[in-house]
Amino acid sequence: MNAYEMDPTELENEPDLDAVFGEFPNLQTPNLYLRELTEDDAADLLAVFADEEVTRFYDLYAYASEDEALELIDFFTESFEVERSIRWGIARRADDRIIGTCGYVWLRRFRGEIGYELHRALWRQGIMKEALAAIIQFGFELLRLNRIEALVMVENTASAALLRSLGFQEEGVLREHDYFKGQFHDMRCFALLQRDWQARQAQT
Ligand SMILES: CC(C)(COP(=O)(O)OP(=O)(O)OC[C@H]1O[C@@H](n2cnc3c(N)ncnc32)[C@H](O)[C@@H]1OP(=O)(O)O)[C@@H](O)C(=O)NCCC(=O)NCCS
Repeated sequence: MNAYEMDPTELENEPDLDAVFGEFPNLQTPNLYLRELTEDDAADLLAVFADEEVTRFYDLYAYASEDEALELIDFFTESFEVERSIRWGIARRADDRIIGTCGYVWLRRFRGEIGYELHRALWRQGIMKEALAAIIQFGFELLRLNRIEALVMVENTASAALLRSLGFQEEGVLREHDYFKGQFHDMRCFALLQRDWQARQAQT
């Protein structure tokens, strides 16, 4: 084996990206569908993003038109097509209407970062925890990630508490890491390792 060949034992750990990105990986949980967004979801997505409380910790302002929701859907679709990221629409199984999104903002070898948001009327019902548990399992098993990260604005206590409830550990504050809405923002870095997730699963 020379320096440019991959160790065969390493190859076994590689994800099957053709399988992952061949077709959008729709998922189901007890109460939710995590599915591909289509342009038909624009009005429901607008209802999520038209709320300043939802976009408060984001590098965007509350949406004012369905066109902005359509642009976001197109962006997610294209990002999936070029295998840059995966964003699931979150829908309740009862009516399949979109109530939020979650997914991998970027993916690297063995590492990925998650992002998520939910319609404000549905906060504190355990919905995002259920959705994230499914995409975390997908990340560790299908994407073969070893580490899942999340960056959270220091003021975003709800998001930090959600991550802790899933077993993420806070690793520190990245000072002035992001710039948006005219200023720099400190971001808390959270991460969950595959072995820690497995240990938690074994306990339940
Ligand atoms: C962060 C967000 C997705 C949480 O979604 P959610 O569905 O309300 O979260 P869940 O109900 O699944 O909460 C799971 C756990 O997280 C914690 N948590 C969630 N929201 C909380 C809050 N406002 N205050 C304190 N703890 C909170 C709790 O421990 C909760 O469990 P409990 O309700 O049994 O106590 C939602 O507040 C949101 O969309 N915020 C705006 C967008 C955003 O900030 N995205 C993240 C950017 S990093």
